Amino acid sequence: MSTPTPIPHRTQVAIIGAGPSGLLLGQLLHKAGIDNVVLEARSAEYVLGRIRAGVLEQVCVDLLDEAGVGERMHREGLVHGGIELAFAGARHRIDLQTLTGGKTVMVYGQTEVTRDLMDARAASGAPIVYEAADVQLHDFDSATPRVSYTHEGVRHELACDFIAGCDGFHGVCRASIPKERIQHFERVYPFGWLGILADVPPVADELIYSNHARGFALCSMRSKTRVRHYVQCSLQDKVEDWSDARFWEELKSRLDPEAAEHMVTGPSIEKSIAPLRSFVAEPMRFGQLFLAGDAAHIVPPTGAKGLNLAAADVRYLSRAFMEFYADKRSAGIDDYSRKALRRVWKAERFSWYLTSLLHKFPAGAGDTGEVGHRMQTAELDYLVHSTAAMTSLAENYVGLPFEELIERSKHPGRPGYSKSIPQKQKPL
Ligand code: APR
Ligand code: PHB
Repeated sequence: MSTPTPIPHRTQVAIIGAGPSGLLLGQLLHKAGIDNVVLEARSAEYVLGRIRAGVLEQVCVDLLDEAGVGERMHREGLVHGGIELAFAGARHRIDLQTLTGGKTVMVYGQTEVTRDLMDARAASGAPIVYEAADVQLHDFDSATPRVSYTHEGVRHELACDFIAGCDGFHGVCRASIPKERIQHFERVYPFGWLGILADVPPVADELIYSNHARGFALCSMRSKTRVRHYVQCSLQDKVEDWSDARFWEELKSRLDPEAAEHMVTGPSIEKSIAPLRSFVAEPMRFGQLFLAGDAAHIVPPTGAKGLNLAAADVRYLSRAFMEFYADKRSAGIDDYSRKALRRVWKAERFSWYLTSLLHKFPAGAGDTGEVGHRMQTAELDYLVHSTAAMTSLAENYVGLPFEELIERSKHPGRPGYSKSIPQKQKPL
């Protein structure tokens, strides 16, 4: 893809990384009249070659609409009102829609979200540099930060007001922060996910998350004719160890008999292994540098929260920049890290909980091995028979409300009313 416009030497927001976080932020700012330049280390084709998850919360759908890139998603995406949990040989539906007062999720691949955002960026003519090598950040603690990079063999410098670090887990932005100013919290899980993409019809109408003595399995989809399936595998496994036949056989063995019977198999068009990690960096702001998305946090994919959390950061950050440029108010900027982290930790907790509930943990410390499996089965049995427990799962899965919405809905007389809220507030 060619660079659409000459790259300026100065901009308001320099965005590092053209994954979903950087592209979505760039599009929202561009629509609000805020100049920004996106610098991406890889080519557009490389970025689009990455297969990631595919479940969007309503807030993510709304933000993509706000960015003006929702048209194809609404046409091709699948709206799901429930998920299924399989364990002990049977399947149980969690009715997300009924349990959450009408909320649903959109099944639409992250690759397609990225493609839509890239197309919108190209159409807008806003500057984006692919294959920007050796990006370096300068003076982000001052009011005049800069970013330097090499493009087509020439070194460039970009002056800006703010830097948005949207460059993923392995990016340069978090790595540029002195160790004493940042804290890392991390848990690496003792297994991975082997995923395949195949052009066959889905096993069921909705996603199936399966807890099985042989390990976790997930039947997801990209359309009515394309599936994305996963099985828990060992971290020592290589993709070459898993022929298509072995994958399908293993998946079948981890599903309930009815799902196994309905499964249609076919050749894989992509196959990859991903490790599972919980990771948070605190804080998410350093002077004029703001981290967003995978640059600041990673969740294991079990709760489908990675992209949604990135979108939530972008929502907070875009509004903060809009407020700053429109009204000269810096409250949003100053509160970005606190607000974002409050949501991040809730998604981390939920993703860790679902991962712990559904995977086979090797025998060792804690509730692992056979004891762990029995505990999981008891919890799943409780979960699918308790409206309270199912509601908790459902409201987290479809996405928690944003902080400002929570504050607005808090009032005395409701269960869970917080006593720290001023008592003079009258019940609504
Ligand atoms: N300079 C410029 N760009 C860089 C650099 C660098 N030094 N390092 C990394 N990048 C680019 C990567 O090539 C990638 O395209 O930053 C982009 C980061 O994109 P993602 O890793 O997709 O991260 P993010 O945009 O935050 O998306 C979060 O993606 O990984 C999933 O589960 C995650 O769904 C979530 C979403
Ligand atoms: C996917 O479709 O790739 C997917 C869906 C749900 C998850 C994780 C991945 O929890």
